[in-house]
Amino acid sequence: MKVLRTKAELRDALSEPHRSRTRVGLVPTMGAFHEGHLSLMRAARDDCELVVVSLFVNPTQFAPGEELASYPRDEARDLALAEGEGVDVVWAPGPEEVYPEGFATAVEVDDALTGVLCGDPAHRGPSHFRGVTTVVAKLFNVVRPDVAYFGQKDAQQAVVIRLMAADLDFEVEVEVVPTVRDADGLAMSSRNAYLDDGERERALALSRGLRAAQREAEGGATSATALLAAVERELRTAGVEPEYLEARDAEDLTPVSELSGRPVLLAVAAQVGRARLIDNVVVATNPDPGGTA
Ligand code: PAJ
Repeated sequence: MKVLRTKAELRDALSEPHRSRTRVGLVPTMGAFHEGHLSLMRAARDDCELVVVSLFVNPTQFAPGEELASYPRDEARDLALAEGEGVDVVWAPGPEEVYPEGFATAVEVDDALTGVLCGDPAHRGPSHFRGVTTVVAKLFNVVRPDVAYFGQKDAQQAVVIRLMAADLDFEVEVEVVPTVRDADGLAMSSRNAYLDDGERERALALSRGLRAAQREAEGGATSATALLAAVERELRTAGVEPEYLEARDAEDLTPVSELSGRPVLLAVAAQVGRARLIDNVVVATNPDPGGTA
């Protein structure tokens, strides 16, 4: 496995594979690998001839006061895990390689998508997604992957990146990989490391609530309110106050009230101890709730 630091080294390593039309897969990450990251690498390994993982804690997607400085970092461990998954190249640039002196450009997706949920100004704000789309656009340009892999865990991020790639004519397929969970249901996240035992127990209310909502949907619920109420009950029982809890169209993130047959994203964020946690499910809804067709 090659570990590269500069754009020049990466472009050099990729020039022959590109010339010979090798299928290149890219897994963008910020490191602190867990099974969620590894599942993206496995998906890439299964489907591509050359797998590139980028490892870069992107400062521009953290707001002032967010945990940029304390974000978990363990490069030696990450490299060993990537090697174990058969990754070909890890690109781990320093901040000055990605954002050299004088860097002044951003890629921004409309705030209908980036100013809601996590991008709501009351939460992380749209500048979070501006940081994400800018760095991912740069990664797409440097790596020129055939396929790029993202996790459903960050459902809004995946929707935003898919639209950015289409709008800017990046020739990349955006693949979204299912959320990997611990045995108790907690969605894996680098931030779970911040939870103590009691907090972890309370954090389970997110996935438990989303599962309850999924059962409501399968049982024929006709309104988003019924699904959200199922999540809310679990959160309340655990004493977890959601930062947001919303039902939105899974493809365009418009708000949903009636369940009309399109897939609905139920998304929740909550601060538990030091950890800001997010989780979501996509529920298939009944196209004909009244049963009259
Ligand atoms: P990071 O949080 O490191 O996540 C890297 C990728 O792993 C993302 O696509 C994320 O959705 C996915 N992932 C995280 N937890 C997962 C889980 N439990 N199951 C499945 N996939 C999971 O997301 C980022 O980094 C950054 O915003 C990035 C895209 C790299 C841009 O800086």
